Amino acid sequence: MNIALLGFGTVGSHFYEMAREHDNLSVTTVLSRRPRPELTCAVTADFDEIVRDKRVDVVVEVMGGVEPAYSYITAAMRAGKHVVTANKQLMCAYYDDLLALAKECGVSLRCTAAAGGGIPWLVSLARAERMDAIDAVEGILNGTTNFMLSSMTADGADYGAVLKEAQALGYAEADPTADVEGLDARRKIVLSANLAFGVSVREADIPCAGISHITSADIGKAKELGYTFKLIARAERAGGKVAAFVCPTLFPVTAPEAHTDGTGNLVSLYARRIGKQSFSGAGAGGWPTASNVLADCLEVAAGCGSYYTDKAAPCAIDNSGAYARWFFRHDGQYLFGDYDAETAFEVYEAYLEKDPTALIARIADSGEEEE
Ligand SMILES: NC(=O)c1ccc[n+]([C@@H]2O[C@H](COP(=O)([O-])OP(=O)(O)OC[C@H]3O[C@@H](n4cnc5c(N)ncnc54)[C@H](OP(=O)(O)O)[C@@H]3O)[C@@H](O)[C@H]2O)c1
Repeated sequence: MNIALLGFGTVGSHFYEMAREHDNLSVTTVLSRRPRPELTCAVTADFDEIVRDKRVDVVVEVMGGVEPAYSYITAAMRAGKHVVTANKQLMCAYYDDLLALAKECGVSLRCTAAAGGGIPWLVSLARAERMDAIDAVEGILNGTTNFMLSSMTADGADYGAVLKEAQALGYAEADPTADVEGLDARRKIVLSANLAFGVSVREADIPCAGISHITSADIGKAKELGYTFKLIARAERAGGKVAAFVCPTLFPVTAPEAHTDGTGNLVSLYARRIGKQSFSGAGAGGWPTASNVLADCLEVAAGCGSYYTDKAAPCAIDNSGAYARWFFRHDGQYLFGDYDAETAFEVYEAYLEKDPTALIARIADSGEEEE
C-alpha cells in the first residue's frame, strides 16, 4: 500500500521510520515545505502532485491545524484515497462533513492517534460501542497538565514554577493556553463522545475549566480532604441527553486516576453490561503517536470500513442531568455543593465575576455503582 505523508515533524518522522519496517507499506512521497535530503522517497511541496498520483493509496496527514489540512484531505478522499490523520482540531471542526465524505467516496478515514496519542482508545471505544451501550467516557487526556498537577502534588510547587519546568522539558508550548485551559482535552472528549454515543457534538458547546486557577494551597486543601486533583474531560449519556464538560476533578487518593503521574494518560469507558474498562499509557510523543497512525494504516490495508461508525447525529450538549458533588473556591473560601453540571458551571461563572481566580472542581464518584 503506497502512502503519501503530509508533514515530517514529531509524528511524521517517527511514522516514516516505523512504516519502513512493514513490507506491505511504502511511503512513496513526503509533502514538505523545505528540502529533505535525508529522505530516499519523493519529496514535494505541491499537494496537487500527490492528488494526481494514482499510485498513492493512503494520505497520512500529520501537519496539524485546520487549513490547509482540511482542503488536502477532502481532495484526497475525492480522488479515492484513504485518509489517516492524528489531527484532533481538524476532526472536531469538520466531524460530520468528513465522515459523510469518506462514506460518499467509499474510502476509509481513521484518526485513532487524535485522542490518546499512543493509546488504542478510540478503536477500543468503537469496539465496545458495537457490543454494549456506553453510559460515560472520561479521562486524563492531556499529558502536559497531568505532568504539572503531578509535580504540584508531589513537591508542593507553584503553578508558575511547574509551567516553566514543563516548558523547559518540551511538554508545554510557549503559549500553553490549549493545554492549561483544557481546550486540548475538550477536543479529545468531543471525538470520544461522538464515537461512544453515535453523535456529533460541538466543541464550543462544552463548558471547560482548565488548571490555571489551581494553587499550591488548593492542592494542600485537597490532600487534607484525602483527594488528588486531575484534569478530567467527561461525557455521559443520561435520559437520552449527552452531557459533557472539562474541569479539574478530585479523586480519592486510592483511585487509579490519582496514581496516573507525569505525562501519562488514563481514559475509561463505562458500559452497561461490560462495566468499566480503562486504558492508560503515553498520550503523546513521537513513537507512541506514530504507532497508532501506523496501526490505522494497517487497518486500512486490511480493508476496514469508511469510519469507526456510521452514526453522527448532530446533538446539543445538555448538562442538566449530570449530577455530582462540586468543590469551589472563591474569595479565599472553600465551598461544596450538589448540583447538575449545568448549574455548577453557572455557579462558577457567578463566582468568577467576583473573583477572577475562582476555582471549580468536580468530586469523582467512588465509581462503585458504575462497575
Ligand atoms: N506530537 C504528539 O505527540 C501528538 C500526539 C497526538 C496527536 N498529534 C497531532 O499530530 C499532528 C502533528 O503533530 P506534530 O507534533 O508531529 O507536529 P510538528 O512536530 O509541528 O510537525 C508538523 C509538520 O507538518 C509540517 N507542516 C505544517 N504545515 C504544513 C504545510 N502547510 N505544508 C507542508 N507541511 C506542513 C511542518 O513542516 P515545517 O517543519 O515546515 O513547519 C512539520 O514538519 C497534529 O495534528 C497534532 O495535534 C501529535
